[in-house]
Amino acid sequence: MDNKEQLIKEKLPQHIAIIMDGNGRWAKRRALARIRGHQKGMEAVKEVVKSCRELGIKALTLYAFSQENWKRPKTEIKGLMRLLKSFIRSELAALKKNNIQVKSIGHLERLPEDVQAIVKDAIEDTKDNCGMVLNVALSYGGRDEILQAVAQIVQKARANNFSLAEINEEMFSRELYTAGLPDPDLLIRTSGEMRISNFLLWQLAYTEIYVTEVLWPDFKKQDLYKALIDYQKRQRRFGLTGEQIGDR
Ligand code: FPP
Repeated sequence: MDNKEQLIKEKLPQHIAIIMDGNGRWAKRRALARIRGHQKGMEAVKEVVKSCRELGIKALTLYAFSQENWKRPKTEIKGLMRLLKSFIRSELAALKKNNIQVKSIGHLERLPEDVQAIVKDAIEDTKDNCGMVLNVALSYGGRDEILQAVAQIVQKARANNFSLAEINEEMFSRELYTAGLPDPDLLIRTSGEMRISNFLLWQLAYTEIYVTEVLWPDFKKQDLYKALIDYQKRQRRFGLTGEQIGDR
């Protein structure tokens, strides 16, 4: 059964962030190599990107590779980099056709040069697209992102001699990798873990969190709709009382 009809168009999130977890467990359950889980996970990425675009979601941020992931076995890292390249190679035409803008957050410069080149080309090739932002977190760490924002501000403070009172949330947000994007309204994490794993620490301050037991390679558009239906039932209060936001 399709649960898409239950969605209220006016109440869809603008920005969805996803921690795509469980590829390894998916493979292990089938006695396959971990990379096979990542391969299948890439199919889920395609389905979710397509579904978000169809729904008119404005931004989708995917946690594809964290800073901590560099500690994984070399063969797995190599396999993930290969998958990322093949994803861009095979999907770039479709991304362009669907007016999707590719962006990345994190230390892109730490990726192998061939991967960097292909990601940068995709970013450049899609920079004028305005249908949806597909934001891929690569060699990303939330604490590190905050620290580099602090460093930028200190540098600017020294150069321009501005006062501490001028430092506010807007100014800080402009120094983050996500500058220009709204904060995520919804964070989805697959495979049941209840943590945010150093993802978008600043930006998730008021984000609704949805955790599903479904492993990422098994995550289908119906699972996305389920998360969205759950999100639409929530009351987002941003620190206000229920009465203040019109709840009776
Ligand atoms: C977490 O599963 C998944 C990752 C670290 C990588 C996600 C990568 C992809 C889905 C493929 C490529 C991505 C793009 C955007 C093209 P895990 O290995 O931590 O699973 P486990 O916790 O079960 O071991």
